[in-house]
Amino acid sequence: MGTDTGVVARLDETVAAIRSKVHVTPHIGVVLGSGLGAFADTLDDLVKLPFDTIPHLPASRVLGHAGNLCFGTIDDIHVVCMQGRVHAYEGHPMWQVVHGVRAMARLGVSSVLITNAAGGLEPSWSAGDFMIVSDHLNLMHRHPLVGPNEDALGTRFPDMTHAYDRKLRGTLREVSQREGVALREGVYAALLGPSFETPAEIRMLRALGAHAVGMSTVPEVIALRHMRTRVAALSCITNMAAGMSDGELHHEDVEQIANARRADLERLLRAWVVAAGPLSI
Ligand code: HPA
Repeated sequence: MGTDTGVVARLDETVAAIRSKVHVTPHIGVVLGSGLGAFADTLDDLVKLPFDTIPHLPASRVLGHAGNLCFGTIDDIHVVCMQGRVHAYEGHPMWQVVHGVRAMARLGVSSVLITNAAGGLEPSWSAGDFMIVSDHLNLMHRHPLVGPNEDALGTRFPDMTHAYDRKLRGTLREVSQREGVALREGVYAALLGPSFETPAEIRMLRALGAHAVGMSTVPEVIALRHMRTRVAALSCITNMAAGMSDGELHHEDVEQIANARRADLERLLRAWVVAAGPLSI
């Protein structure tokens, strides 16, 4: 059942096109969010495939999202990075929003780390903090698994109890201590966007138990858990959420803070890949 949606056929085409250009099986996948893409350029033996050269992967049109699938190594661990992502608010159907991470899983990665820029909801936090995602609230009113189930990918009703892998999160905590990069931990609420939230919505999200808010990540996590791929997610708190600090929110500021945290993020991701990679091989 489910093949009439064409999800698996499209995935096979995408993966075949990638394999015709890249002849390694990556161990680890990393999705790089707004302003966080520079990490991909630090990979050794880098091969970059622009999204629009790969069947069914649309180029992201968001400033700060390069739109490349990048292959390379860190300490002999093969890594595939999405340098930029596809967002639901751009008007793409949900299958396309998660197509890149599904392709990573089909290529053979066993773990994926998803990064994003997010607004912070905890008054004691600051712009520039990093947060390990412990759980999420899907408030996008979108879901990537709506429609006939793709049995070839996973079960109709995937379990989400441990969506954010405890071992991968533990590894993130360990390497952050070693690298001296402080990490918060909390619940990520995903909204569709593209407007930032109102202060009233932020008060609602805090009452619901969220610690950070953004417009991505959750569809990717759901699609990867459907395929039984291990996932962790890391938010860069690029701003305090609407109404929690003076002034207005601007995407340029999100980018600027993400860029300012680039060196620490790179160190953290490299150390995490080195620590998590062998778990995946
Ligand atoms: N809200 C939603 N998404 C975001 C934010 C925010 O405050 N900051 C970065 N991405």
